[in-house]
Amino acid sequence: MDIDILTLFPQMFQGWLSFGIFKRAIDQELVRVNLHNIRDYTHDKHHTVDDYAYGGGAGMVLKPEPIFEAVESIKNTIEEVNMLPIILLTPQGRPFCQQIAHELSRHSRVILICGRYEGVDERVREHLATDEISIGDYVLSGGELAAMVVLDAVARLLPGVLGSPASPLDDSHSTGLLEYPQYTRPAEYRGWSVPQVLLSGNHAQIAKWRCEQAIRRTLNRRPELLDKANLSPQERQLVDRLRQS
Ligand code: 6GU
Repeated sequence: MDIDILTLFPQMFQGWLSFGIFKRAIDQELVRVNLHNIRDYTHDKHHTVDDYAYGGGAGMVLKPEPIFEAVESIKNTIEEVNMLPIILLTPQGRPFCQQIAHELSRHSRVILICGRYEGVDERVREHLATDEISIGDYVLSGGELAAMVVLDAVARLLPGVLGSPASPLDDSHSTGLLEYPQYTRPAEYRGWSVPQVLLSGNHAQIAKWRCEQAIRRTLNRRPELLDKANLSPQERQLVDRLRQS
């Protein structure tokens, strides 16, 4: 997958990209991250990327021209531009979630535009972006951290990026439920024991315990997720039973 990031601060991504799963994914050419400095697409002597807001008010607004030109220069290098997602990261976007991560992971290329909190000229939203995404109901000073969040969530879904192909499927939110509790050795630590069932070797019992724990945890912490979760009839029964008790 190719990810093009338009930003005023490409260096913000470099440290983050050189560790862990991302480093491996890039080394193995499973993802390619192309960083584009919006400032490189200006033409004036001072490389101006922002300007005062028409109508007044505090804060600068990102100018449309460098952003349009950066996207167009990327589009000129690729053949299939019809389905290309061009995503503006902004607190006004639709809330990011696991389902959007899955949708994006099916594309061979995605462009992410990092806005800044004061604003981006509205014509970028209207005539260039195909989608707008927010990572939550709070304001960040720029879209860069949000782009990293989106990119991380998408990249780990790509085939081969995580070690085992099964692991993203069990994650919190992939099932629509929060994940069950996990334990590793030692079996007893400071007097706190790992639940006996996990040591039993009985895989059917373990699966049942995990399923129940995931439902309990979701019911306690995020009950609104249960309405949308994709549950089997047995799991629904369990939800109803736990709700009553
Ligand atoms: Cl995508 N950008 C900014 N600047 N703030 C945010 C955000 C994005 N998502 C939540 N807050």
